[in-house]
Amino acid sequence: MARMRAKITVAGVGFVGATVALRIAEKSLGNVVLHDIAPGMPQGKALDIMESACLEGFDSQVTGTNDPADYRDSDIVVITSGVARKPGMSRDDLLKTNASVVGEVAANVRKYAPKAIVIVVSNPLDAMTGLVAEKTGFPKKRVMGMGGVLDSARFRCFLAMELGILHQDVQAMVLGGHGDDMVPLVRYSTVSGIAVEELISKERLDAIVERTRNGGAEIVGLLKTGSAYYAPSSAVTQMVQSIVCDEKRILPCAAWCTGQYGIRDVFVGVPCKLGREGVEQIIELELAPDDLKKLQASARHVRESMEKLAG
Ligand code: 2OP
Repeated sequence: MARMRAKITVAGVGFVGATVALRIAEKSLGNVVLHDIAPGMPQGKALDIMESACLEGFDSQVTGTNDPADYRDSDIVVITSGVARKPGMSRDDLLKTNASVVGEVAANVRKYAPKAIVIVVSNPLDAMTGLVAEKTGFPKKRVMGMGGVLDSARFRCFLAMELGILHQDVQAMVLGGHGDDMVPLVRYSTVSGIAVEELISKERLDAIVERTRNGGAEIVGLLKTGSAYYAPSSAVTQMVQSIVCDEKRILPCAAWCTGQYGIRDVFVGVPCKLGREGVEQIIELELAPDDLKKLQASARHVRESMEKLAG
């Protein structure tokens, strides 16, 4: 980054966008601009967050705006705009509705923040990431979607709850689209280096994998009026931190595949090295044949959504 302090713009100030701003501020990762079309909403949330600065001890500046020209000079733009699903809906049901609002935001990013790295959060995640890449025309390494970090966090949470252990001691990764056909990798899941298959029965692991796949729907079913935002905002913040601090963490993100895992020309969740350039590398693991098939099927599903958008 050119400046010492990064500028991170968050488009959409629903619960996810506002909580992303709060988490970024509390970690002092940079200055945050909250943007939304609703008059007063981004300004109000930004002011509320700033009024907590002296209590929480952070030095980030958070401001709110209704003017997309304020995206100017953003290092990162996080797109959370669009609607969340209601109980009984799949993420795919949001395709057309969210495409128009996300498309509009992407056009503003292209116009006002042509050097930014974009993290897409709106659903259906992988297709929206593809749409943003198309509308911005940015190099693909500067466009990515947040899905895998959240899905992996849910998987880790359920594994830790099963074993009654510290969540941080569980490592796990979920690949594929952020949807019903995501691929939790049991084979690469460990507890302090011990394979989870040695600690948890196959039957229980199958149930945990299933719960992970339905993780978003489980929260929607409980909340009834919206979808998750605490864990999604933490996942975004981890990605922002890896980019802003050039940490080069290996995180599963929706990234543009160019032949990795036999997948080409589509955004789908794969392990990525995230640093100041964005997606600096896609890591290719040797997957169990069944997992590889599932990942490829998930990528085909994303491609079908992209075709629906084009058609
Ligand atoms: C989730 O999985 C909203 O897609 C988001 O909770």
